[in-house]
Amino acid sequence: MEIDILTIFPGMFYGPLSESILGRAQEKGILTVRIHDIRDFSTSKHRVVDDYPFGGGPGMVMKAEPIAAATEHALAARRAAGGAPSRVVMTTPAGATFSQEMAKEFASCDHLVIICGHYEGVDERVSSLVTDRVSVGDYVLTGGELPAMVMVDATARLLPGALGDEESASSDSFWNGILDYPHYTRPRIWRGLEVPEVLLSGDHERIRIWRRKQALKRTLKWRPDLLDQVELTGEDVELLKQVMEDS
Ligand code: ADE
Repeated sequence: MEIDILTIFPGMFYGPLSESILGRAQEKGILTVRIHDIRDFSTSKHRVVDDYPFGGGPGMVMKAEPIAAATEHALAARRAAGGAPSRVVMTTPAGATFSQEMAKEFASCDHLVIICGHYEGVDERVSSLVTDRVSVGDYVLTGGELPAMVMVDATARLLPGALGDEESASSDSFWNGILDYPHYTRPRIWRGLEVPEVLLSGDHERIRIWRRKQALKRTLKWRPDLLDQVELTGEDVELLKQVMEDS
């Protein structure tokens, strides 16, 4: 998968992208990330990328032309390579909230362009180039760089081969629409707290059922809204009944 990130702060990306799973995915050739400085596409001598808003009001607005030129540059390079249609994602607190579902959808694309918004916003006229407007939550950050990193991270780890066997994504929280079950490792007793006996039993079926019940229990406690959206199996319904009886 190829990702082009358009930003006015390219330096923010180098650390996060070169470490851990993202770094490894790039080394393995599963992921290619290119960072473009939007200022390189400014037509002004001083590499200006923002201006005052028409109609007045506080703050500055990112100019349309440098963003459009940078986007078209990324799209043209990709088209020349003969790839499938690209998604052009704009980070904005006014976008659809990023989710595991969205990460899965992005991971199935060959090419993403991510435009990191800034200041009070981006000139509305670049909308025609944008396919998705995405927020990482209902709060306002100083810019779209951290949201872009969140999206790249959540997306890239789903690419086939990005995670090692021991880091499977299939048991992640949200993968199946509910929260993950609790995890334990050595020592067996830590500060007087014991690992649940079932996990030491070697009985895979008992462990599977216990984990599913714990996952449902936590979801009911911390994110009951998720249970309205997920398709529960007959076993899930039975386990949830037990959870409610236990409490
Ligand atoms: N830019 C500023 N805040 C943001 C948010 N919450 N999500 C995406 N982009 C943003």
